[in-house]
Amino acid sequence: MNKPIDSQRRALLMGSAAALAAGALPRYAFAAEPVRVGLILPMSGPFASTGKQIETAIRIYQQKYGDMAGGRKVEILLKDDGGVAPDVTKRLAQELVTKDHVQILAGFGLTPLALATAPIATQAKTPMIVMGAATSIIPQRSPYIVRTGFTLPQVTAPLADWAVKNKRLNIKSVVTLVSDYGPGMDAEKVFVKHFTAGGGKILDSLRAPLQNPDFAPFIQRIKDTRPDAMFVFVPSGAGTAVMKQFVERGLDAAGVKLICTGDVLDDDLMPSIGQAALGVHSSHHYSAAHPSADNTAYVAEFAKQIKSRPNFHSVGGYDGMHLIYEALKKTAGDSDGDKLLAAMKGMKWTSVRGPVSIDAETRDIVQNVYIRKAEMRDGAVYNIEFETIENFKDPGV
Ligand code: PHB
Repeated sequence: MNKPIDSQRRALLMGSAAALAAGALPRYAFAAEPVRVGLILPMSGPFASTGKQIETAIRIYQQKYGDMAGGRKVEILLKDDGGVAPDVTKRLAQELVTKDHVQILAGFGLTPLALATAPIATQAKTPMIVMGAATSIIPQRSPYIVRTGFTLPQVTAPLADWAVKNKRLNIKSVVTLVSDYGPGMDAEKVFVKHFTAGGGKILDSLRAPLQNPDFAPFIQRIKDTRPDAMFVFVPSGAGTAVMKQFVERGLDAAGVKLICTGDVLDDDLMPSIGQAALGVHSSHHYSAAHPSADNTAYVAEFAKQIKSRPNFHSVGGYDGMHLIYEALKKTAGDSDGDKLLAAMKGMKWTSVRGPVSIDAETRDIVQNVYIRKAEMRDGAVYNIEFETIENFKDPGV
């Protein structure tokens, strides 16, 4: 009875000795090794809320679904890149790949940080899951990039189309105001293209600096220009300052409406923006008020863990984990970069934001975009979705 086991064990030991002598680990050791995910996020600095949101979502995902996928333990190695220096993010990615031997890179809160890291993913043939950065071009920079967040053209085009047609709001002229970098350029171009195609007029296009912006002079200039509405994109974290100036400078009273992407009315900031947001129309792929049982449970878990609402960046993290787990299940735990990429392409699932899929050709997320209005719900202001543009792909710029 014992003999076959002994001989099996001996063969295994001899095999492993031979493999070690040849400088490689035996096969069965690979199966036991965890899959390492190098997660690079802004955990400090001006965009730390993005890091906190994505990190919390990933933790909640692992608490809910466990830390095993495809028979492998999934280990997260979190690095703080501070959110503002592309060379820091790139160096961290390089170290994660060469020293920590991660098989997957993930995170990336801002566009310049994702763009700087793309060549590392290509060289190392390592899947790079972009959970935050939202400039259209990003997945084109490496065949190993898959995006689980959103793109600015994806959420901006539906808003422009909706606003120019809406008889009740009656917006015929707009001044655009965006942060002066990748996603801002995307938002401005796409808004102008769609709003003018629908017969609307753009009176001016303003760009505020990304870092330490003072919105006061921009908002004053918009007030002086007197458009029917201003369209705004600023990245997650900067919305409160815009809203404060909008109220202080009395644009509402001057008859200038505000329309924006959901980045401005970020759920993480909504409690501090408060009533100033009431009545503002926006578009986005996620609202903490999204009506589904899955989302209600997700929101409750966030409240329990960090006493805050989940925001749109958090779902990029949560769904990024889902993508990694499901891909590992499909490859039966094989963490080869090309095999994981193949498993990720075309994947479909129901997210807390609604139905999503990964476009097999572009590796970008396809999802519903919702038009929302900020309203009171249970004593607080929420972005209430009232119109859905289904399964919408990034239209590009
Ligand atoms: C980006 O840098 O791509 C970015 C960051 C925050 C946002 C949107 C886009 O809210």
